[in-house]
Amino acid sequence: MQASQPASAKPILTLTVNPALDVSTSTERVKSLHKLRCSTSRLDPGGGGVNVSRVVQRLGGQTLAVYTAGGPTGEAYRRLIEAERIPSVVIPIQGSTRQNFTVDETMTGQQFRFVLEGPELSDAEWRACLSVLAASMPVDGYVIASGSLPPGVPEDFYARVARLAREGGARCVVDASGAALAQALAEGVFLVKPSRRELGAYVHRTLDTEQSQVEAASALVAEGGAEYVALTLGETGAVLASKSGVVRLPVPSVQVVSAVGAGDSFLGGFMLRLAQGHPVEAAFRGAVAAGSAAVMTPATELCHRSDVERLEAELSAAAL
Ligand SMILES: Nc1ncnc2c1ncn2[C@@H]1O[C@H](COP(=O)(O)OP(=O)(O)OP(=O)(O)O)[C@@H](O)[C@H]1O
Ligand SMILES: [Mg+2]
Repeated sequence: MQASQPASAKPILTLTVNPALDVSTSTERVKSLHKLRCSTSRLDPGGGGVNVSRVVQRLGGQTLAVYTAGGPTGEAYRRLIEAERIPSVVIPIQGSTRQNFTVDETMTGQQFRFVLEGPELSDAEWRACLSVLAASMPVDGYVIASGSLPPGVPEDFYARVARLAREGGARCVVDASGAALAQALAEGVFLVKPSRRELGAYVHRTLDTEQSQVEAASALVAEGGAEYVALTLGETGAVLASKSGVVRLPVPSVQVVSAVGAGDSFLGGFMLRLAQGHPVEAAFRGAVAAGSAAVMTPATELCHRSDVERLEAELSAAAL
């Protein structure tokens, strides 16, 4: 397996319009009307696209992370990205970068995730994101647009990203939900990575049978919404649909600690392997390995490279 990125790897740009400073901590028990004494907090620069960049980097690859930042939280966020030495372009915004809050309840092992709405972006701010994308287009590579859209950003934002990518000679990958996902699919993209919940909401079905999952993913391909649909199913694994058919992979057996960041790790593993020139089926194994490696780490921590490579080797051996 090619673990490090060869010079010929295709370029990857990630776009995050609604990043979040992830604050995680733990407390013995979450109870109302009590002061909840918490452990020391951990800060991570989160948000879909940036997380994908961080995963690609820790697996030995490189990306350009384009993200918005504003206010004191935005400043802290930038510093964390700089400390991780992730090549980036920051689009300054008037509002303050949001924070998300994750609390592990030590007595029960339950996890509480508070996800805040982002700051409102002005027309000029979201248009600046598109201008930076057009100016930094990863020609012959991948644009990964991931995460929710903050207030002020139009629902067709990812559709606009897809159009720009196509015009600029790059493939567009979208990890989003609701109207943002629907509009991107209407435009047509290279790959989407919905979770069962997200694809279920799109097709108005629960997708609780294997057959319904395969049908829904294949239908998106047949309709021209995406060339590849990577439907992730949590602890059940994932399904990959394309015009060549459908592949299903179960998850390798891992100790589940925290599922935060599993989807971003999945996508990071997938895109790095594709950019390195691996066949799609092998990249899909890298994706499941990275997603499952992410659940082994606590709180918002992303996957570790050694876990990903070990799980990837296990899945490859099983595929022989
Ligand atoms: N409990 C688990 N055990 C092993 N692997 C898991 C588990 N949960 C998630 N994964 C891995 O992470 C991948 C992505 O997980 P999931 O389907 O939950 O996506 P997600 O994007 O994190 O979900 P959502 O966006 O709805 O929160 C799965 O395909 C799998 O490889
Ligand atoms: Mg997700």
